[in-house]
Amino acid sequence: MNSKKTELSNKIKAAKPGGGQARIDKQHQKGKLTARERIELLLDKGSFQEIGMLVTHRCNDFGMENQKFPGDGVITGFGTVNGRLIYVYSQDFTVFGGSLSETHAEKICKIMDKAMENGAPVIGLNDSGGARIQEGVNSLGGYADIFYRNVMASGVVPQISAIMGPCAGGAVYSPAITDFIIMVKNSSYMFVTGPNVVKTVTNESVSSEDLGGASAHSTKSGVTQLVATNDLDCIEKVKKLLSYLPQNNREKPKKLSYKFGDESRPQLDNIIPESSTQPYDIKEVIEELSDHESFFEVQSDYAENIVIGFCRIAGRSIGVIANQPYSLAGVLDVNGSKKGARFVRFCDSFNIPLLVLVDVPGFLPGTDQEWNGIISNGAKLLYAFSEATVPSITVITRKAYGGAYDVMNSKHIGADLNYAWPTAEIAVMGAKGASEIIFRKEINAADNPAEKLLEKEKEYAEKFAHPYRAAERGFIDEVILPSDTRKRLIAGYDSLENKDKKNPYKKHGNIPL
Ligand code: HXC
Repeated sequence: MNSKKTELSNKIKAAKPGGGQARIDKQHQKGKLTARERIELLLDKGSFQEIGMLVTHRCNDFGMENQKFPGDGVITGFGTVNGRLIYVYSQDFTVFGGSLSETHAEKICKIMDKAMENGAPVIGLNDSGGARIQEGVNSLGGYADIFYRNVMASGVVPQISAIMGPCAGGAVYSPAITDFIIMVKNSSYMFVTGPNVVKTVTNESVSSEDLGGASAHSTKSGVTQLVATNDLDCIEKVKKLLSYLPQNNREKPKKLSYKFGDESRPQLDNIIPESSTQPYDIKEVIEELSDHESFFEVQSDYAENIVIGFCRIAGRSIGVIANQPYSLAGVLDVNGSKKGARFVRFCDSFNIPLLVLVDVPGFLPGTDQEWNGIISNGAKLLYAFSEATVPSITVITRKAYGGAYDVMNSKHIGADLNYAWPTAEIAVMGAKGASEIIFRKEINAADNPAEKLLEKEKEYAEKFAHPYRAAERGFIDEVILPSDTRKRLIAGYDSLENKDKKNPYKKHGNIPL
């Protein structure tokens, strides 16, 4: 037995350093951790169970038969994060640049299958030069096997992709299908075609960082939901994100213990400015409605006119979608609608109740918006709210104008509880715009048209710029004080704990993608 033990221990010893110390040093010099170090940071101490440490590639071309590294450039397995089971793969850049061979792909597929069978999240730590060039189509097949599983796992178990190095070519499509992408600033990039190809095809000169770094994808494309300052921060963000999520689509997120005592929030009674055109920060409202320091914003630098993220209310994990008066007056546009819709669908897939805060003057007008499809993109948000069956509560803080009133989780499209603050204005449009249209003749004929317009505006505002018409119709369940809102939300989500609503049978809907 002793010689067998030694044989095993030698094999493990050979596998652990991946591509060797020199390449590990190079990885560290770039400010990056190794694949094993990342796993150690992510998982609870001693919980990692490796699978496939001794797997090697089967390629015999280009002298590859003489270059075999146990594990083949990816470390796979399972373990726990804060006591909860997760499956993980971590690409090892020190082995052929973390490139994906047929066997590398098989290892990832194996843990994805297990994650689905056992109802646990999959975390992918990506750091790879893409398809293993020596393997040709075998590698491409491996990618497709992963993509297929990403799609099958979508909405079944949470999938999180950390991009901690290169992620180029078709390799980007696995993270793109997962639920969340976190990119590390300055050491990661994602693009379908790199700077050289871009230069050849379009004659544009652009660096990797400018083309597909964390900044480009968090502000311009919206591809990444979170940005980390370094590997350590990235792993911390993965853990934090996980804490709001359930294990799978049949479970609810874990409810943390909560001690009653800080429900009333008097500060909220002073948050809406006197003038309805003056902005305020909706994030302050979210913070006040949430448990202390529990708000975790995602996609914060993209389409800032809509704020999304997770918070806790009395220990319960909640998905928040809110118009942001600080940015474009909180208007709905193409990017904001897409951002909101995808988040609503994620929360609905994983039984995370919704809180929708409304202060929206309407949809953004203009050729740019129309030609970029505000019609079909705005419809995504409408569709997502309408098909959501999780408990959802809407609070109108100020404006809810026009079609945007309908879209922002109105009673009509399925919200469970609809509240409005006394400052709410629920109307087809603002008083000025409305008066200019319906009283145009009267205003034009007046001796002083400007004075007449003001008079008509006042008349229209008195009729419609408040929540009471909607409350009379039952479209708003209650008009509540801002300071009482948190109390109402806690009671509301308690009452909806066992909500059981099903949409009609269908193979799947046809959301306007
Ligand atoms: C095999 C690879 C590799 C690859 C890197 N290496 N990429 N081996 N297949 N795709 C190896 C290198 O030979 C080197 O080996 C080691 O990894 C580190 O690479 P370096 O170039 O020294 O590192 P660095 O300077 O940091 O540059 C990293 C890089 C570059 C930018 C990723 O290596 C690169 O451009 N690689 C090729 C990228 C690529 O074109 N991939 C295919 C994309 S198409 P040694 O032995 O020296 O350590 C694709 C299609 C997928 O992925 C389709 C799915 C649908």
